Amino acid sequence: MSTPVTVAEVPADVTHDLRRAVLRPGAGDVAWPGDDDPDTVHLAARAPDGRVLGVVRLSPAPCPWRAARAPWQLRGMATDPAARGTGVGRLLLDACLAAVAERGGDLLWCHARTTAAGFYERFGLTVVTAPYDKPGIGPHVGMVRELRESRS
Ligand SMILES: CC(C)(COP(=O)(O)OP(=O)(O)OC[C@H]1O[C@@H](n2cnc3c(N)ncnc32)[C@H](O)[C@@H]1OP(=O)(O)O)[C@@H](O)C(=O)NCCC(=O)NCCS
Repeated sequence: MSTPVTVAEVPADVTHDLRRAVLRPGAGDVAWPGDDDPDTVHLAARAPDGRVLGVVRLSPAPCPWRAARAPWQLRGMATDPAARGTGVGRLLLDACLAAVAERGGDLLWCHARTTAAGFYERFGLTVVTAPYDKPGIGPHVGMVRELRESRS
């Protein structure tokens, strides 16, 4: 069965419930520095009834591991556990790559949970660091993908 899911840019607070449920269980405040910066982009995947099935944030930020002219950080990627494996993550990641390219970005990078590294690898990101711990969250690896510019 395929679900018609759509991805669109949303205000930061639309991402909060999934951030809290999936990424920061038990956390009260899930607003992060930079969420309201004018260049920050929040994307949400929604079911036809409006339910938020997946969220992610993109923002211009220097990459800790690679030099780039216009690097963008991916953060806060989460899909509803009930919707996993149905392509919601793929829709969001494809939208991320398009959104960064449209904005002239030439590198996408993230601190990836080691449990999600295989997901990002499917979209051309590669691991460029040894594993490191994020206290309270768990082991991560640095991942990057270079992008072709889509605007002159
Ligand atoms: C990682 C996550 C976003 C993937 O979302 P999803 O909705 O399950 O992804 P999709 O169903 O679109 O899967 C796309 C492809 O990636 C694969 N995939 C999904 N999760 C994977 C994983 N953890 N490792 C390897 N491959 C994975 C799927 O099998 C699918 O492959 P296919 O196209 O060959 O069928 C989701 O599992 C999640 O929210 N995890 C918990 C939070 C988290 O770790 N976020 C990342 C923080 S860095």
